Amino acid sequence: MANCLILVGIVFAFLCSSAVFGTQVSHDGRAILIDGQRRVLFSGSIHYPRSTPEMWPDLIKKAKEGGLDAIETYVFWNAHEPQRRQYNFEGNLDLVRFMKEIQNAGLYAILRIGPYVCAEWNYGGLPAWLRQIPGLQMRTNNQPFKDEMQNFVTLIVNMVKQESLLAPQGGPIIITQIENEYGNIQWPYGDAGKQYINWCAQLAESYQIDVPWIMCQQPDAPQPMINTCNGFYCDSFEPNNSTSPKLWTENWTGWFKAWDKPDPHRLAEDLAFSVARFFQSGGTLQNYYMYHGGTNFGRTTGGPYITTTYDYDAPLDEYGNIRQPKWGHLKNLHDAIKKMEKALIYGFANTTELGNGLSVTKFSDNGVVPGCILANKNKTDDATLDFEGANYSLPAWSVSVLPDCKQEVYNTAKINVQTSIMVKKSNQAEAEPTNLIWSWKPENLSEALHGDAADFTINMLKDQILASVDASDYLWYITSVNLSQTQQMRLQVNTTGHILHAFINGDLIGSEYAPNGRFSFVFEKEVVIQGGVNIISLLSATVGLKNYGAYYELMPAGIVGGPVKLIGNYNNTIDLSGNTWSYKVGLDGEKKQLYLDYSNSSWHTEGRLPKMSPFTWYKVKFHYNLD
Ligand code: GAL
Repeated sequence: MANCLILVGIVFAFLCSSAVFGTQVSHDGRAILIDGQRRVLFSGSIHYPRSTPEMWPDLIKKAKEGGLDAIETYVFWNAHEPQRRQYNFEGNLDLVRFMKEIQNAGLYAILRIGPYVCAEWNYGGLPAWLRQIPGLQMRTNNQPFKDEMQNFVTLIVNMVKQESLLAPQGGPIIITQIENEYGNIQWPYGDAGKQYINWCAQLAESYQIDVPWIMCQQPDAPQPMINTCNGFYCDSFEPNNSTSPKLWTENWTGWFKAWDKPDPHRLAEDLAFSVARFFQSGGTLQNYYMYHGGTNFGRTTGGPYITTTYDYDAPLDEYGNIRQPKWGHLKNLHDAIKKMEKALIYGFANTTELGNGLSVTKFSDNGVVPGCILANKNKTDDATLDFEGANYSLPAWSVSVLPDCKQEVYNTAKINVQTSIMVKKSNQAEAEPTNLIWSWKPENLSEALHGDAADFTINMLKDQILASVDASDYLWYITSVNLSQTQQMRLQVNTTGHILHAFINGDLIGSEYAPNGRFSFVFEKEVVIQGGVNIISLLSATVGLKNYGAYYELMPAGIVGGPVKLIGNYNNTIDLSGNTWSYKVGLDGEKKQLYLDYSNSSWHTEGRLPKMSPFTWYKVKFHYNLD
């Protein structure tokens, strides 16, 4: 009997300890609560597919040293489910490993499942195969779409549950997101949009995962979804419900880069100003988008015309180096704000506007040591502010943090960290050319140019996204025309872009791309069409599929509908649009996976490297030194 009692006692103790093992996450109208305590939280976006698993521990460590409490990431549906019900969670798509690295570093995670993500990611993260499902309309109250979305979201939720990655299970995930900025584009969807967002909320709730769900940029987010702010400044944002705390999911640390455009920059001072103003005005959690931007590997970049670099001018540069003074200036800001954490979220805020953009906020009472934030929103005038018997100098557009209301420990415009400029140096021991070992090989165009071996044939010009299902950036449209005699004619191709290369009888006659910001253009070229059969091969290429906007997924690409015409003398026109067109998806080198070919066989290595030579595969080998 005594033994029995001891056993019961042990079982009871075990049950109790397992019940308190995890972290409880909740919220009130003021803050996110971790184990019942209101918290100020700093978070930063690091998207796992934009770096390598080998880089993750170092990036996360640098984020922690920079004063972050959490790492935020999206989940990338079209990368994980490239074909319907065929999944990939390997390599830099190993979401679970990434979450565990965050956990090992002792940080929290914010998981933005979407599964629409925007993110300058190809097609905004939605798989192109969705377009093949009859009757499917994306991101609206449409059953086929909701079924697919539910299938993927459920897969991710089950995966993180199974791996005990949710905070209440002892894991790092404290917040989860459904959809992304739907509120920005909801209007054209009308009632169906509203029904869709309600459905998203119900779906999220149905998982009962006991961490708060957020919806960013969603002013009508149904309770208990917390609507959050994205932008360069979010101090004037107010959540749509008094029970929701003020959260900032995307503070843009810079911006993404587009081909042909300059590198975007945001000053560390301005970034720090925006953060300090957010906490002055009642914020509780702020996330840097991006903390590490990284690289758009392979064909993952959105678009059109977004670059492979996703550096973003973030506190960690594309390669994971600390970018100063941004990283250090923010670290100091985090330290300063954390010094007055209790005052900020438990004290009562009392703001006095002093005119000319000056304001003082004192957080006091409710048992806290008072803390103060002073702001000068004036963009041109520096100011001296008299406050509680002392003078404070506030440069224009700056905020000072006084954790004890007496001493300024931080001002957003006064940088006290090293400023460094990264210089790329070639290896001194080896000259550049031997450092990089180049080889090259021409793309095998023969099948496409001779009209052989099509993937499929139809009597129309089809949208490139529908025809290729995003298996490649490249799509060949091939047809023939039979003339009784040789003629000088003009080939005219109306295309929705993004790039067109035109060949007649095996010869490249011209190439063109959609000019800046446009999605369509007309290609025209004078050509000689021979008497007899002529083969016209048009290679259309996309440079990242669109990722943003209402109905963005319906934006066509390629020579959809054309028309494609041959225009002769006296406007004698042959419309080829309704011809029989053969389609070939992708390049020959892609099919052969030349990018994985580490051999030297059949690659050219001798002589001068061909430059400005289209349809050439280049391969380079290089030595990588860690020091
Ligand atoms: C936001 C969006 C992000 C990203 C950002 C710009 O509107 O939510 O996913 O696209 O813009 O970098």
